[in-house]
Amino acid sequence: MPAMLILGIESSCDETGVALYSTDAGGALLAHALHSQILMHREYGGVVPELASRDHIRRTVPLLRKVLRDSGRALGEVDAIAYTQGPGLAGALLVGAAFAEGLAASLGVPTVPVHHLEGHLLSPLLSRNPPTFPFVALLVSGGHSQLMRVTGVGHYELLGETLDDAAGEAFDKTAKLLGLPYPGGPALAELAERGEPDSVKLPRPMLHSGDLDFSFSGLKTAVLTKVRAIETLDEQQRADIARGFQEAIVEVLVKKSLRAVRQSGLKRLVVAGGVGANRELRRQLDAAAAKHGITVYYPELEFCTDNGAMIALAGALRFEAGASIKPAGAFAVRPRWPLAELTH
Ligand code: KG4
Ligand code: ZN
Repeated sequence: MPAMLILGIESSCDETGVALYSTDAGGALLAHALHSQILMHREYGGVVPELASRDHIRRTVPLLRKVLRDSGRALGEVDAIAYTQGPGLAGALLVGAAFAEGLAASLGVPTVPVHHLEGHLLSPLLSRNPPTFPFVALLVSGGHSQLMRVTGVGHYELLGETLDDAAGEAFDKTAKLLGLPYPGGPALAELAERGEPDSVKLPRPMLHSGDLDFSFSGLKTAVLTKVRAIETLDEQQRADIARGFQEAIVEVLVKKSLRAVRQSGLKRLVVAGGVGANRELRRQLDAAAAKHGITVYYPELEFCTDNGAMIALAGALRFEAGASIKPAGAFAVRPRWPLAELTH
């Protein structure tokens, strides 16, 4: 197959991402650009979907121009356009999808609709030391927490998932309870660094459930109970609670991931999604993996959270696998879309 130039567009939530990926010489990311809407949504305490959609409209063309400039490539050289079809916010998805389909139609190239979580799942392949298939993947983002057995592009078997809140959602909601700004994950992790280890004991939900499912909403309620029990929290108490929360969630994620690796008989674990940026999670996973002869692979920090590079990559790999290629034109977005429904 001749080398292809794939443009990737991500707009499922509050980040606009654009990237250019070439399949030449084993594949390379040529350029990528990102605009985060965090500051815009912060004053509302969370993502406002309508504002997100409007901002994606404003950002996409300037980001595309930057990517072309940085890569030294022309729009006319693009062979296919990959974009996030779902899951995500319907309006935000529509902006990226409509833009990608319109541009592809005008260029006369096909499109590759991509599953956002597949992008996260494959993002460690952009690293200098990429994993090989098969592997177990721990996908921990703002909207999803899943363990998957991955045997190849498009071959994803669900091993376990959260029954309620996602790990990132639990971080965000707990951070809010502690008065931290949106998005709470990184802010809570920073506060937890100043907390006293083991000073606040919180439950480890479903740690001994025997399966690979998670549940995090009770943990958030346990934090709420602690916060309410103290009239005014001082800085150290807030840090101790943040630490206790992080200790609990990290322990559950690490133990269940190891169980998934053990049960599947594999030796590789891939961690992806925004919570994969958490330093304590990485530290404990690395320590546990070293003990059990497992190798853990992470995306580069900048590709843990949403970005266009992982969408361009997923599009390129799907293209190479001969899947989901469609002529530009009619399209639909899929705000709800289980990853396990995906085939190659
Ligand atoms: O993958 P992502 O960018 O978006 C979704 O697809 O949902 O993940 C965003 C989530 C947010 O909930 C955010 O608070 C969390 O990832 N997150 C973190 C950290 N960085 C981002 N959670 C814990 N520790 C972090 N360092
Ligand atoms: Zn994401």
